[in-house]
Amino acid sequence: MARADPSDGQWNHSASLFGVTGQRTRTQVAIIGAGPAGLTLGHLLHCSGIDSIIIEHRDRAYVERRQRAGVLEQGTVDLFRSIGVGERMDREGLVHHGIHLQFAGERHRLPLTELAGGRSITVYGQHEVVKDLIAVRLAAGREIVFETDDVSLHDVDSDRPRVRYRSEGSTREIECDIVAGCDGSHGVSRAAIPRDAYRVFERTYPFAWLGILAAVPPSLDELIYAHHDRGFALHSMRTPSITRLYVQCAPDDLLDAWPDDRVWAELRLRLETADGWTLESGPVLEKGITTMRSSVMEPMQWGRLFLAGDAAHVVPPTGAKGMNLAVSDVRALGAAIAEWYRTGDREALDGYSRTCLDQVWRAEHFSWWMTSMLHRVPDADAFHHKLQLAQLRYTVESRAAAASLAENYVGYEHA
Ligand code: FAD
Ligand code: PHB
Repeated sequence: MARADPSDGQWNHSASLFGVTGQRTRTQVAIIGAGPAGLTLGHLLHCSGIDSIIIEHRDRAYVERRQRAGVLEQGTVDLFRSIGVGERMDREGLVHHGIHLQFAGERHRLPLTELAGGRSITVYGQHEVVKDLIAVRLAAGREIVFETDDVSLHDVDSDRPRVRYRSEGSTREIECDIVAGCDGSHGVSRAAIPRDAYRVFERTYPFAWLGILAAVPPSLDELIYAHHDRGFALHSMRTPSITRLYVQCAPDDLLDAWPDDRVWAELRLRLETADGWTLESGPVLEKGITTMRSSVMEPMQWGRLFLAGDAAHVVPPTGAKGMNLAVSDVRALGAAIAEWYRTGDREALDGYSRTCLDQVWRAEHFSWWMTSMLHRVPDADAFHHKLQLAQLRYTVESRAAAASLAENYVGYEHA
């Protein structure tokens, strides 16, 4: 069997070895998943002259349409600009300098940029980020294999890991130096790590979000996070003509229980204020329910397998941290891999988990804190409710508390 030097790119030939009926390929880094983590890593590696293959379970149209995150931290925006994927984001993204917290029928603006040393957030849909990253990868001539099935990882504790998958009716194999598991919270990469080699720290929440995308201009030009006796609500947006809204629901609610009229009625009740501000409604383009969970696995690596993004940790969406954290992981991973290829020194790769976990736990805490402060907890007593209101009031009245929220929201960077 022909072997290639890690640095000499790809070679292909057919083989039936080990049940492989199709193409066998060699690359430097095999990346599982074409979400923000996998695609950003692929481009960072390309910028360092490192070859990779991305394999993705879904088709291209699906990943380019999937509605998820909407808020980019300043650091995420800066990174995308620095690697040449910021052009459309800069043209079409909406730069925000504040958010609103609403409770007890009052709305309070937090001037993020003023409170967080000039930093801001950019509202730009995750699917737009994914589109931009796919376009730049394909333009660079790097490979993404869409619509793969039955992905399995082999020998990740050796120096010749292999990734096997099914595509177009045959079983294919990639031999590589490193595997990056960027396959999200339901992926398969984690299963390649022996159960006694990692710990999982987890919390589930007794509520969920029902999200809609509506063809109506945002009713306010900034985000509103609302605490209400009937439950949490969030006003966000995608473009000047598309609004994104969320309403707290039960984790076992079915979409059938939420016809459009009910969604709009709940959103109005929870978001409208006594001063006559109203929520504009419009045709609902999409509707979905997201359950909420906090989870961290430690360490995020085993042998030559490195997990990044939702594959390694999940946050509830209240802090808008998930995608940003995924990007922050792969920034560290991309740098560590480049260092290893350049110098042969494994120190940064070996320290990958340690490098990421401080940032991960900061985001976990912030997301848990925002979630706990803003949602109605079923069966919670009046004491709990009063504590939530006291925390909200303190957050909007105390400059120190508001600044703490702001520096986390725009993206806290460890010293
Ligand atoms: P994913 O985006 O999940 O990508 C993983 C990819 O791997 C997917 O394309 C998947 O199809 C693929 N895959 C899975 N299994 C396999 C397999 N076996 N083989 C091959 N491919 C596979 N984050 C924010 O930062 N800001 C926000 O405002 C925000 N809002 C959110 C709102 C909602 C309603 C939700 C649900 C999430 C939100 N998030 C937000 C979180 C954010 O969307 C995720 O954290 C982010 O998608 C993580 O990126 P990732 O690349 O790690 O994983
Ligand atoms: C979104 O626009 O989808 C969004 C915004 C803020 C969040 C979560 C989701 O905290």
